[in-house]
Amino acid sequence: MFLFRKRDNKDIDMSNLPQHIGIIMDGNGRWAKKRGLPRSAGHKAGAESLKKIVTEANNMGIEYITVYAFSTENWKRPKAEVDYLMNLLMDYLINAEKTLAGENVRIRAIGSRAELSEEMCRQIEKTEKLTADRSGIVMNIALNYGGREELVNATKKLCRNVAEGKLTPDEIDEEKLEQELYTANQPDVDLLIRTSGEQRLSNFMLWQVSYAEMVFVKKAWPDFKPKDLHECIRIFQNRGRRFGGI
Ligand code: FPP
Repeated sequence: MFLFRKRDNKDIDMSNLPQHIGIIMDGNGRWAKKRGLPRSAGHKAGAESLKKIVTEANNMGIEYITVYAFSTENWKRPKAEVDYLMNLLMDYLINAEKTLAGENVRIRAIGSRAELSEEMCRQIEKTEKLTADRSGIVMNIALNYGGREELVNATKKLCRNVAEGKLTPDEIDEEKLEQELYTANQPDVDLLIRTSGEQRLSNFMLWQVSYAEMVFVKKAWPDFKPKDLHECIRIFQNRGRRFGGI
């Protein structure tokens, strides 16, 4: 667990940046409670924080960022909070063109679309299409996402291919499974950040974080600033990654 010092990004090795950063944006509710505000105010502040972090990551040359916006388990929250989060996401997608204008961000949504409203599905497709040809950072918004659901879904697709005679069970390998994930053709997560002091994965990118360096930050997500991102990257660069070797 790290409490960050005030420093800029001068000593970051730009030739050794994580290619893919995953973020569990935790602590919005507690942030709001501490200020006597409704939980929705925490989510709103969290969305603002996200814009700044994506902009900074893109400016630094990070290629992929995946953010956990709504998990398959978040439907258990009170309806009013679920509705608020869905509206916030909708606004984010609608305004993506404006808010991330000139920043060249490619937006994608990962997760199951089956439980999302038709309106949300249409907006996701629109935003994905609108930003697909850009050359900047790829931003995956994990929306109705669960790592286990993703793996079950991939398994079903492989089984279907076997049943249809397109594949034999022995031909199934890591590469074939990866091709059926929502993140097909994207690199694994190198750096996983979770804010607000919790140290668990909560069903996030179970396959893709296999070799990720994990950095747990005490601050709540709405307080997470670009300088905190720099510190996380610095920590990542100071870790010895061996990928099972010596
Ligand atoms: C966890 O905090 C956060 C979420 C469940 C939602 C994350 C959403 C945002 C940051 C804003 C919307 C995102 C986009 C892409 C516009 P929590 O509510 O579990 O906080 P707590 O643990 O303190 O209660």
